[in-house]
Amino acid sequence: AETPVRAVIDLDVTGPVISRHLYGHFAEHLGRCIYDGFFVGDRADVPTEGGVRLDVVEALRALDIPNLRWPGGCFADEYHWHDGIGAVESRPTMVNSNWGDVIEDNSFGTHEFMALCEMLDAEPYISANVGSGTVREAGEWIEYLTRSDDSPMARLRRANGRDDPWKVRFWGLGNEPWGCGGRFGPKAYAQVARTFGTYSRDHNGNRLYRIASGASNDDYVWTETLMQELGFEIGTGNSAGPSVGAYDAISFHFYTIPGTWAHKGSATEFDTAEYYRTLAEAARIETLLAAHSAIMDAYDPGKTIGLVLDEWGTWFDVEPGTNPGFLYQQNTLRDAIVAGVHFDAFHRHADRMSMANIAQTVNVLQAMILTDGPEMVLTPTYHVFEMNKGHHDATSHSVDLLDPIPSIVSGERTVPSLSTSASSRDGRALISVTNAHATEWASLQFDLRGAEVAGATGRILTAPSLQAHNTADDPHAVSPHAFQDVHLEAGTLQVRIPAHSFVTIQLDLA
Ligand code: AHR
Repeated sequence: AETPVRAVIDLDVTGPVISRHLYGHFAEHLGRCIYDGFFVGDRADVPTEGGVRLDVVEALRALDIPNLRWPGGCFADEYHWHDGIGAVESRPTMVNSNWGDVIEDNSFGTHEFMALCEMLDAEPYISANVGSGTVREAGEWIEYLTRSDDSPMARLRRANGRDDPWKVRFWGLGNEPWGCGGRFGPKAYAQVARTFGTYSRDHNGNRLYRIASGASNDDYVWTETLMQELGFEIGTGNSAGPSVGAYDAISFHFYTIPGTWAHKGSATEFDTAEYYRTLAEAARIETLLAAHSAIMDAYDPGKTIGLVLDEWGTWFDVEPGTNPGFLYQQNTLRDAIVAGVHFDAFHRHADRMSMANIAQTVNVLQAMILTDGPEMVLTPTYHVFEMNKGHHDATSHSVDLLDPIPSIVSGERTVPSLSTSASSRDGRALISVTNAHATEWASLQFDLRGAEVAGATGRILTAPSLQAHNTADDPHAVSPHAFQDVHLEAGTLQVRIPAHSFVTIQLDLA
């Protein structure tokens, strides 16, 4: 048997709280995410409410999804919200030039999205149009959403059937402004973000959390410029009352792509070398989070400004025969391993990270849910989100490794074969472990200190092959099972984990 990797977890030493918003979601008007994913109108073959699929809602409610980002993505910077309100028959159409050049009929608009959030019990995260919209348009949108008195936009909302204002906290200032969001340079965008942030007002006690759009991957200049241009003295009152600064958080995007942009690789057909390339790419998340955070620390040591990763996940070639502009891909055990590694990194950076959003929730990129007509399939990634639910709003604990983690060699890079993190909440602790190795088992021995542990129960997500995935014919090919190889004795927890597995261990604290 393998030599165990020893680790210490001090359950009485508390790290930062892991915001549940690190488990956030993203739904764009892209391919079959909104239309034919969430929103199917009055199709008769699935139960719906207000056009929204209830099986999808139920599955996402089981994840306790904390927030949903909408309407994009690149789509956000061409979206004019006025086109998506009022009688559906009279809403104008538009071209979705980013995604398939298809006609968007605007039948899913503000009211439909807010109703979806209410059904999901998730907070809305709305991205305002900075690229092709106006400051006035963004300002009026938030007035429409959140104003309670007789203001012009509140009156319009009422005329469209909604009396009460909604609560909207998360407010994005555009998307990828260096690319599809307007081809800005960092300084020009920072100034525009300040303007949009200023005129997106807080109405009637609705306090916006304004998120400036940030870097792609390792564009650290972008992050640094946004910090320099924040426009207020950090630590002087951004957290209460009317906003002082123009934005409260800075985002960045990072996708795991094993190949090149033109040939990303198949979602289901890959060999071990390609799997390890995927893993080496995914492992970059740790470096990126550390580096963006370090830049922010230099300007904001008190960590007032949040770091938001509002798009992350795997990006492969589309499934053969599907529209290349729709970004539809299958989801295998490899995707679950990528998700496990990301969440451990998020937990380690919970002091700075205030939100993360997987791209995207249904039928697009690293989805939770794939639909096909009336069928609905939960992906391996879905199960990682579900198994990790115990980390939502839990207190993180560092996992101090006493032995080196065995590494995997991928080309010129070495990648750790194991990843782990821990947290506790309400008398329970949760340890997550990913054994990313394609062929070898891993053993871990945790020395649990600082609390009495009365019991330990494990769950495992694995399958005979890394390429395993769920389909309508075989929906449970990759699904969680009870995991017995968990032994607790006198505060020492021993676990032996098969190759390519994601495991969670729940500890009952006495
Ligand atoms: O998630 C798909 C696209 O990826 C988004 O629209 C864009 O922001 C990013 O480039």
